[in-house]
Amino acid sequence: MPAIGKNLPHDAAITHVCGTSQFICDIPKLQNELVVDFVISEEAHANILSIETEKALEIEGIAGIYTSADITSPHKIGPVFQDEYLLAKGKVEYAGQPIVIIAAEDEKAIKKAKSLIKISYKKLNPILSIEEAIEENSFIAVPRSVSRGDIEEGFLNSKNLLEGEVYCGGQEHFYLEPHSALTIPGENGEFKVYSATQNPTDVQMTVAEVLEIPLNKIVVETKRLGGSFGGKESQSSYFAAMTAFVAHKTNRPARIILEREKDITTTGKRHPFLAKYKVGFSSDGIINSLDVNLFSNGGYACDLSTSVMDKSILHADNAYFVPNIKITGKICRTNLASNTAFRGFGIPQAVLSIESIIEDIAVYLKKDAKEIRELNFYKLDCNNTAPYGQVIENNTLQELMEKISESAEYKARVAKIADFNKNQSQKLRGISCIPMKYGIAFTAKFLNQANALVNIYTDGSIQVSTCGIEMGQGLNTKIRQIVAQEFKIGVENIRVMATCTEKNNNGSPTASSTGLDLNGGAVVNACQKLKDSIVEFAAGLFNPQNPNKDSIIWSNEGIFDSRDESSKMSFKEMVKAAYFNRVNLGERGFYITPKLNFDWDSPVNRPFNYFTNGCSVSEVEIDRFTGELKVSRADVLMDIGNSLNPGIDRGQIYGGFVQGQGWVTMEELKYSKDGKILSNSPANYKIPSIHDAPKEFNIGWIENDKNTHNVAKSKAIGEPPFVLAVSVWTAVKNALSYLTDGEVVSIKSPATSEEILKFITKYEKN
Ligand code: MOS
Repeated sequence: MPAIGKNLPHDAAITHVCGTSQFICDIPKLQNELVVDFVISEEAHANILSIETEKALEIEGIAGIYTSADITSPHKIGPVFQDEYLLAKGKVEYAGQPIVIIAAEDEKAIKKAKSLIKISYKKLNPILSIEEAIEENSFIAVPRSVSRGDIEEGFLNSKNLLEGEVYCGGQEHFYLEPHSALTIPGENGEFKVYSATQNPTDVQMTVAEVLEIPLNKIVVETKRLGGSFGGKESQSSYFAAMTAFVAHKTNRPARIILEREKDITTTGKRHPFLAKYKVGFSSDGIINSLDVNLFSNGGYACDLSTSVMDKSILHADNAYFVPNIKITGKICRTNLASNTAFRGFGIPQAVLSIESIIEDIAVYLKKDAKEIRELNFYKLDCNNTAPYGQVIENNTLQELMEKISESAEYKARVAKIADFNKNQSQKLRGISCIPMKYGIAFTAKFLNQANALVNIYTDGSIQVSTCGIEMGQGLNTKIRQIVAQEFKIGVENIRVMATCTEKNNNGSPTASSTGLDLNGGAVVNACQKLKDSIVEFAAGLFNPQNPNKDSIIWSNEGIFDSRDESSKMSFKEMVKAAYFNRVNLGERGFYITPKLNFDWDSPVNRPFNYFTNGCSVSEVEIDRFTGELKVSRADVLMDIGNSLNPGIDRGQIYGGFVQGQGWVTMEELKYSKDGKILSNSPANYKIPSIHDAPKEFNIGWIENDKNTHNVAKSKAIGEPPFVLAVSVWTAVKNALSYLTDGEVVSIKSPATSEEILKFITKYEKN
């Protein structure tokens, strides 16, 4: 009964549908529990002159009101650089920044208190956009870059040059479950924290900093998340710390559940990017030289901006070998919420930039864009080294491109679309086929580790605990499959427990698509240790005179000595016997990703363990009078190695693609002139619905069991499919190119109906 490769339903499929899955807001109210909320800044940039809380403190039901003056810890917080305060101190740096924590018996008291807390400001000029930040020289950290060859010489030797800019907007995570946390104080200054986080260890560290207590007094537990997409990789820690602070001050349980508008206003989003580039290429379309300057809008603090930019820089090449190349990344410091991780972690922005450039080269040369792409592909035996010095091994890009061209009938559809656009004055169609090469690993080497705990009980049932967080992606389901396969038993015998820092310490965030790679690796290691002990015990049990580990066979039907088939025992029988003979039936496993090295100053690096590859073909139809956009068909073909669970992998591809489609077509963050977010609810921020998904949507992957670098020869799949939706945006560019007669199509992302109509109107006037 091989469990791997099976279409096992998601662990929580039934409980989610029945509404019985427990989230933090479902934990029954505890005796004496307090409600926690906070007051935010109304200004994007200002000095705080005064905070009046006296009147609010007199309200019945108020248990505490706290400002930065009440936090005695001198430590700043933040996941990479510690450059943030839990509560604004002296000044505010974005509209939405927490200033005052309120703890109360109920919501009513909180509401009343809020109306009585008065904060006065002296306004300062805010910096909101990337352009303003560049002008004011307002940056976070030092710029980083990667280069190869000589770009200036490359430009001199290029027949054609194009220069330009491409902008893509940010994105609200819009997880269904908002940020939430519950802290319960224990005896002797211990705290149990329930947090909706991708990163319990970061929550533990943040609470420790704020309360000035050691890590071993804090236990953080996360059962599951109701979606996250990167939004709970670092920023959950602040809300958990607020409840811990209240619990510490009052010695009472304290819970926070953010309202939607507050969640959107206070937390960071996907980074908007501006890419400024110059590209030199031959008349065939071979890129000879490329200079890209990436600017991200980091918001007011660093958060994960440096790590996000690292991934962008390392993916600005996407699938293309460019002999002379320089990629530079700068993070703009602005007066917005601190932008953070979001599915793809800077890679979608980088890929959108290079694919925009390719699309422009094609229009400029009056050639098909797919042809330009294939001309510039990383090859198998030469031109196979990335600008940072990693050789691209087991490259499946060309294979994917050839297969999808055929299955999506790319060539025939291009001809049909050209014909359609010639004879149609109401609609405009476009098509685009893009590749994707997605590097898997954390660029911070130390994060590429995980531990896992596997406990076998005397009835043969098993509990598994890892550092990984189940956020809907199916991690726990795949972990069960891996354990079932290791012990050759049914998946029904295995349960994956809530993630908890008490069982699994020093965990990395479940992020960068590495959740299964790392935690699955650690689980396999624990299982192998257990199997070793059991096999050794079995050898002695079956043949005490002449025990031989090598003759023990562990099969789907049971465990036996090959010299005596009648010795066969089931896993359950064996486990029971092992227990009575005092064999250890619980093990911790550990895993590190092998062979990684990355140093910005070295020309030869291996930042990634392997690459998840994919191609997509999208076709769009635009209404010339309204700018309305429909995705009439999308095809996705991926290389995900050996699929552990086809149903879950399909779901990841479908969801990731449609979420990416939202980012490039309709999700538009709007701010007032003074920096307040206007798109703060589902009423004014539109995410894709099922009706927006491609009308025809073909999802597939190639057979590939060569990825020996990863657990069960699988490949990471959480984030990569998001990137493939860039083809929807390039298909819009392709459609609009039918209006411009060789002039490159310069549009922003998202290509909203408004953005499209603006472009059409400009060209139809000329
Ligand atoms: Mo994920 S965007 O790396 O939390």
